[in-house]
Amino acid sequence: MNYSLLVAPKKYDPQTEDLTTELYRMRGMLRAGKARDLCLRVSLGWLEVKQLSRIRTSLAELEATAKELFESGRLLQQLPTLDAALQAAEQRLKTERSNEGQELYFMARLLRGTIHQQGLALDDEAVEKMVNAYTLSNAHFWEDYYSTVDAERFDWYGTWDTDITWDGGGTSSMGSVLRPFLRADAEMLMVGCGRSEMSQQMYREGFQRITNIDISRPLLERLQRKLGEEMPLMSWRWMNASSLLLPDGSMDVVIEKGTLDSLQDNLPLFKAAVREMHRVLRTGEVLISITDADRLSELQSLAPFRCQGFAGQVAHQKRLQLYVCHKSVSLWDELTSWFKLEL
Ligand SMILES: C[S@@+](CC[C@H](N)C(=O)[O-])C[C@H]1O[C@@H](n2cnc3c(N)ncnc32)[C@H](O)[C@@H]1O
Repeated sequence: MNYSLLVAPKKYDPQTEDLTTELYRMRGMLRAGKARDLCLRVSLGWLEVKQLSRIRTSLAELEATAKELFESGRLLQQLPTLDAALQAAEQRLKTERSNEGQELYFMARLLRGTIHQQGLALDDEAVEKMVNAYTLSNAHFWEDYYSTVDAERFDWYGTWDTDITWDGGGTSSMGSVLRPFLRADAEMLMVGCGRSEMSQQMYREGFQRITNIDISRPLLERLQRKLGEEMPLMSWRWMNASSLLLPDGSMDVVIEKGTLDSLQDNLPLFKAAVREMHRVLRTGEVLISITDADRLSELQSLAPFRCQGFAGQVAHQKRLQLYVCHKSVSLWDELTSWFKLEL
């Protein structure tokens, strides 16, 4: 379960930042004293306040608490309490007209869905049907979310010009690590483009043959209207990452940033998406996967990829892993090329 993706990173607000730090400090102390229930009550209390930035902090806190409860086998016990508090918050947030209020409404509903999925081992559809809540791999979530929350720019793990402090030393932009793997004439696929700036920044730098795909039609229509004229070599198409409507070997580069993360709790979807990304790549060409998960062996075991990983820290945000995976020559290709040589 990928809890770390649920609550979108907050906008910087010094007052909330101080309170968050304080709450985290308290949490550490409480945990050391094995007083997690008190800690949970503090976060639930924060959910009742009016100030949106506090609610955001509270949701982030509840997300972390739910993760701990799950890992210690106590989530089911606390499910009714969490459910009631999140439902009450949803009711209040539903009437909020601001983008932030609406976004938090979706985050609360997503968190409620996720804890039910985990606590009761439900799939995406069952969560939606039984508790009227969402999970990250449910396409309805993204459809509803993007058609309600106005498409303000937002990038998971930063974008092309975001500076990353790399574990091996030095700070450089994401783009400067990716540039050596790209060619200006490369045919590229951006899987689950969302509201990211990445494709636009790449386009402005000369990497223009980009097909952006996503599961949300309202989002794609908006992007097409906004950018279609200015960026004629780029396109926006509705596709499910797990069944791409593209021929085998038709892409030189496939990029996904946070999209596999959102599918990872739905294993059949996740596996199909990795295999589809492999299928549409030309042999020898690259998949670039940006995530906060350790995914090297997973990617290599699901499809014949040879991956190298770069790890780093995004300023003010969390850690990221950037994988560059070359589509390997399959055994079949090797045998046939060897056979042709022999002839
Ligand atoms: C965590 S967001 C990442 C968005 C963007 N790549 C970024 O870096 O900011 C995941 C994106 O994947 C899209 N998505 C979710 N499931 C999908 C699927 N099955 N096929 C295609 N896109 C999907 C969502 O609509 C969303 O825009």
